[in-house]
Amino acid sequence: MFVDRVLSGMRPTGSLHLGHYHGVLKNWVKLQSEYECLFFAADWHALTTNYDNPEIIEKSVWDMVIDWLAAGVDPSQATLFIQSRVPEHAELHLLLSMMTPLGWLERVPTYKEQQEKLSQKDLSTYGFLGYPLLQSADILIYRANLVPVGEDQLPHIEMTREVARRFNHLYGREPGFEAKAEAAVKKMGSKKAKLYDELRVRYQQDGDAEALAAGRALLEDTQNLSLGDRERLFGYLEGGGKMILSEPRSLLTEASKMPGLDGQKMSKSYANTITLREDVDSVSKKIRTMPTDPARIRRTDVGDPDKCPVWQLHQVYSDSQTKDWVQQGCRSAGIGCIECKGPVIEAVLEEQKPMQERARQYLEDPTLVRNIIADGCEKARKMAQETMREVREAMGLSYS
Ligand code: TRP
Ligand code: SF4
Repeated sequence: MFVDRVLSGMRPTGSLHLGHYHGVLKNWVKLQSEYECLFFAADWHALTTNYDNPEIIEKSVWDMVIDWLAAGVDPSQATLFIQSRVPEHAELHLLLSMMTPLGWLERVPTYKEQQEKLSQKDLSTYGFLGYPLLQSADILIYRANLVPVGEDQLPHIEMTREVARRFNHLYGREPGFEAKAEAAVKKMGSKKAKLYDELRVRYQQDGDAEALAAGRALLEDTQNLSLGDRERLFGYLEGGGKMILSEPRSLLTEASKMPGLDGQKMSKSYANTITLREDVDSVSKKIRTMPTDPARIRRTDVGDPDKCPVWQLHQVYSDSQTKDWVQQGCRSAGIGCIECKGPVIEAVLEEQKPMQERARQYLEDPTLVRNIIADGCEKARKMAQETMREVREAMGLSYS
């Protein structure tokens, strides 16, 4: 059976916080039990904006991987690796750059947006312009079909699909393609071959999208094909050449609703975060000193939870009974703010406890993390090398 392959990357640019946990990592943990997953530290992507202070990247990589493990990402289920340790990403990026129109990169909304947002940095660099194409290489090199990303990244996935299509169009036309494809059809066995032919005709003559989907599913379920034949049959089904690179789909991750300590979205740039493995005293202190409804100057003043960032945290962490207690107590001045914060502090610490525990062994013995990453890099590299063999051959660079 064909299993969907999920790939996602994260830039190592500092400690992860509870916003990352609720927004991204919980999702990764869920995905790893449902799909084949590859998760990697996008250190080259971090360099595109941090080329002037690369020191923080190395440290952040290891801290970030420990945060992943602490959150429950499981190296026995998912492959964890570092982008730059699979240098094939760079080779594919280079080769894709030959055929990617400049306009495609200039049109990606994040390009101008990030330049404006990070205006203190000079981001009119070659590397930054190529950011989305490097991301395309990350995805296409593993033939990943599902990419969990936030909304801002959707244009990058869309561009990746266009790049794959253009690549296949340009380089998927090998001499004798039709004859080779016909021969591959026969290898499917007579029953499947007949079905494939029917579906192919239905799609190509009538544009029947269901026939296309059924044809793809049929190929995904067919075991005994070589990689080359598989690519031919996917391409032949649609009437093109070989499908060397496959188009990924994005798996939209809902934006984290995690509020920060000041009621704005939790984000490093607002300095309102609680880090994933922040120590107990610091967590308690941060929450105890959180601002509350400014109308409650004295303990006897009534308040309005809707004007209070603590209430937003209750909405994430508290059950309905506790929430009723807050609503009631705040509006009648029946409880004080310190009292109200108690259950939030407890809930955050409770959430962090298993993370602290999982992290402990990795902090005590850093070689564990190094080994997990070494294994992951090796696995990832094998897959990447296989794709690169095909890519080089298709582009006439295999010199055999
Ligand atoms: N650009 C992504 C981000 O900032 C990180 C990333 C790099 C990525 N390569 C990727 C995500 C490949 C998904 C797939 O979030
Ligand atoms: Fe906020 Fe709770 Fe104080 Fe009301 S009682 S202002 S909800 S901290």
